[in-house]
Amino acid sequence: MKKYFIFFLLVVLQQSCKIPAEPKIYPSLSERGLVAEHAMVVSARKEASKIGLEIIKMGGNAFDAMVATEMALAVVYPYAGNLGGGGFMVYRLNTGETGALDYREKAPLRAHRDMFLDSLGNADPKKSRSGGLAVGVPGTVAGIFAVHEKFGSMSMERILAPVITLAKKGFIVTPNQAASLQRHRNSIIKANGENVLFAKEREPGDTFRNHALAATLVKLSTNGRNEFYSGETAEKLVKFLQEKGGIITMEDLAAYEVQWRDPVAFQYDDLRIISMSPPSSGGIVMGQIMKMIEPYPLHEYGHNSVKGIQVITEAERRAYADRSYYLGDPDFVEIPVKKLLSQEYLENRMDNFSFDHATSSSEISHGTIPGYESMETTHYSIVDTEGNAVSVTTTLNGAYGSKLYVEELGFFLNNEMDDFSAKPGVPNMFGLIGAEANAIEPGKRMLSSMTPTIVEKNGELFMVLGSPGGSTIITSVMQTILNVTEFNMGMQQAVSAPRFHHQWLPDEVRFEPNSFSEATLDSLRKKGYEVTVGESTILGKVDAILVLPNGKLEGGADPRGDDTAAGF
Ligand code: DON
Repeated sequence: MKKYFIFFLLVVLQQSCKIPAEPKIYPSLSERGLVAEHAMVVSARKEASKIGLEIIKMGGNAFDAMVATEMALAVVYPYAGNLGGGGFMVYRLNTGETGALDYREKAPLRAHRDMFLDSLGNADPKKSRSGGLAVGVPGTVAGIFAVHEKFGSMSMERILAPVITLAKKGFIVTPNQAASLQRHRNSIIKANGENVLFAKEREPGDTFRNHALAATLVKLSTNGRNEFYSGETAEKLVKFLQEKGGIITMEDLAAYEVQWRDPVAFQYDDLRIISMSPPSSGGIVMGQIMKMIEPYPLHEYGHNSVKGIQVITEAERRAYADRSYYLGDPDFVEIPVKKLLSQEYLENRMDNFSFDHATSSSEISHGTIPGYESMETTHYSIVDTEGNAVSVTTTLNGAYGSKLYVEELGFFLNNEMDDFSAKPGVPNMFGLIGAEANAIEPGKRMLSSMTPTIVEKNGELFMVLGSPGGSTIITSVMQTILNVTEFNMGMQQAVSAPRFHHQWLPDEVRFEPNSFSEATLDSLRKKGYEVTVGESTILGKVDAILVLPNGKLEGGADPRGDDTAAGF
């Protein structure tokens, strides 16, 4: 007891020393999140966190809870939760064994490199973002069945039962959700007509039921994975897509397979960080940034201080330049992972950094590696009673994906094809630029920024986290880790704290509004940084779990959304 009191005092003392006073956007900055003894689920919605936890209370493990949470989010958070999209999972068993699952969408077999170019050879973003051609072959259903087959301990019927009940009985529309549905209503109607479920106006407090989705889930629970990839559901899906100008065939669905992959792991001070490998750029880019900033004493500079922002921004600039050149689907392109993460290479990349002035992105391109040829996503974190940890980010890409809603089956389809580089040098919807490595090819997976991550300290589980936010995912996840390890914040504090972002191009540092002092921003401007403070910009929406020194779990649920921690 005494030990914890001293620890608490130390934390308070350190925090008051190290975090300079900045205007705060979120009043909860000093609060602890939910603390629980045995298990925890943190996700974008209360209903999904509760269902995941319920599965654990019934004796299920973190993987059973993953299946339930993933599907519950498809019901209650159709903005990003999905059956028609894809994602990544990083896991750590209580034995210390780690691994990753790639259930990312794939380009259809009839896709081709120039499919989004118009007659003049210009990229047409409408084609890659909406309508049938924008849709990649969905991976989520294959993902949950692969997780269940390898690690599941309960029957699929039991796991899906509470999700099916949720879809049938309905959930309450939150004010955030009502606003989001309203914002996207016209484009949903444009894509699907006025008679679909999502065309109806919704008020906060309304009950939202989705019987078509309940019926699809019943079929999956009875018939298994093949229902979606070769059964009646597959046939309905293909028919729907073909009517909408899509090119996905039964052959595409039958050929879809998930990949178990080795995660990317790297050391940062006394932490071992385990994150997603390609086709996500998350682990490599975060690893590059963190290795570049590791030599600098960030805690001495202070949280969100000018010097701290400079070091992080410059490292981000260099890492995102590498991302655009080197990264793509590892089943199609060779990625020099070791070299990109090597100490020597990264030290050289920071050679021309100076605290006096900003480096210009036009002076930075990808690094030279000898011998080398050349807020619509959602994250949830789970720790079960046995100490197994699961970190999952899943997406439709844009809000409600391509907006194409399969009324008969009850779910939206992704527009993940926009994550490919439609044409070298042309930015995607997140302003990210790609090259050859991320060009469209049949059956290839599009490059992602999703960064589901698990952190170890002294060989033990320490943190589970991730975020939506397109290109800002990587930097949001990284800042949350830094907030805990460099600035001694608790989990909720670290998640709530204001964030900033740079991604090489466009050459600007983006800041959350009302969260950084004018003096800080001015000082950066004087050094040549282009400072952007978007009025309603939020960067990432992190859902995380921290193992406290006493072994209890602290949840960090992002106050930027309806995110909620559930634990016992
Ligand atoms: O995989 C990716 O990087 C993107 N499709 C993620 C999209 C996303 O995070 C949108 N959320 N706000």
